[in-house]
Amino acid sequence: SVPIILDCDPGHDDALAILLAAGDPAVDLLAITTVAGNQVLEKTTLNARRVCTVAGITDVPVAAGCARPLLGRLQIADDVHGESGLDGPSFGAPTVDTVPEHAVDLMYRILTRHPEPVTLVPTAPLTNIALLLTRYPDVAAHIREIVLMGGSTERGNRTPAAEFNIFVDPEAADIVFRSGLPVTMCGLNVTHQALVTPEVLARLEGLDTDLGRVCAELMTFFAGTYRRSRGFSAPPLHDPVAVARVVDPAIVDCAEASVAVELRGAFTRGATVVDLHRHLDRPVNARVAVGLDQERFWDRVVAAVDTLGRR
Ligand code: BDR
Ligand code: CA
Repeated sequence: SVPIILDCDPGHDDALAILLAAGDPAVDLLAITTVAGNQVLEKTTLNARRVCTVAGITDVPVAAGCARPLLGRLQIADDVHGESGLDGPSFGAPTVDTVPEHAVDLMYRILTRHPEPVTLVPTAPLTNIALLLTRYPDVAAHIREIVLMGGSTERGNRTPAAEFNIFVDPEAADIVFRSGLPVTMCGLNVTHQALVTPEVLARLEGLDTDLGRVCAELMTFFAGTYRRSRGFSAPPLHDPVAVARVVDPAIVDCAEASVAVELRGAFTRGATVVDLHRHLDRPVNARVAVGLDQERFWDRVVAAVDTLGRR
C-alpha cells in the first residue's frame, strides 16, 4: 500500500479524510500532522486527537505544526466548522496524545527514514508543507508526490476568487506549486461533486456502529452550516477527495496544467490560476483534478468508516 502523511486542520471534512486514510487498506498512514486553518492550532490538534480516539486510531503519531500562516494573520472558518472546529457530536476527553515534536520535524524524520518515497496529502493551508520544503531542502528526494485539497479551476469559496486553504496561506501554496515536485490539486471544481446527500448520511447511519453515528452527527452539523452560510442543499466533503485520489487514482480524473497562485491581486489574493487551455505558455507544474467518480468515492469512504467502526 502507498505510504502517506496526512496534514490537516480538522474540520469536519478533514475528520473524514483521517478516517479514509486510516481505514482504507490501499494506503499506509504514517502520521497525522496538524496546522492552523479551520480553527486555531490548539483546536485542530485537539480535534485530530478526538477523531483518532473515537476511531481507535492509536498506532499513528499525531504532531502539531504551525499556528499561523507564513505571512499575515490567521483567518479561520468557524462559520462552517463551529466554535470547536468540529461541532456536532459530543466528544469525551481524547486518549490519543500528540508526540512531543513539531509536525515539520516529525515529517522530515519519517520521510528520510522510510524505505521508499512517501506521498504527502495536505488538506489544509500549506504552511507546514512549505516550511518542510524550505527548512529541509533535501527532503524533496523522499517525497513521491503531493496530493492536496485546495484551489479551484473555477471560482473560490472564501472570496469570489480564492478557495479557503490557499486563501489562508497563499505564500505557502506558492512555494508548493513552484517546488518542482509532482503536485496534484484537488480543488472545489471536483470537491463540489462530493456532496453528502441524505442517501450518503443514511449509509453512514446504517453502518450501525458508534463511529458511523459520530460521522452522521458531524455531517449533519456540516450540512446545517453549509445550508445556512452558503446555500448548499448538501455539504461538499472536500478533503477525502485528495485521499481518494491516492487510494484509487481512477476515482479522480486529472489533467495536466500550469497552476499559479495569485499573491498580489486587489480582489484575487489566494486564487489558483489554472491554465487548462494553455493560454499562457507556462510550463506544466501540476495535475489538476477535473472529474470525480462519485459512486466509487462514496463506496470507499463508507467502507473505511465501516472497517474502523468494527475494529
Ligand atoms: C477546505 O477548507 C476547509 O474549510 C475544509 O476543511 C477544506 O480543507 C475547503 O475549501
Ligand atoms: Ca481541511
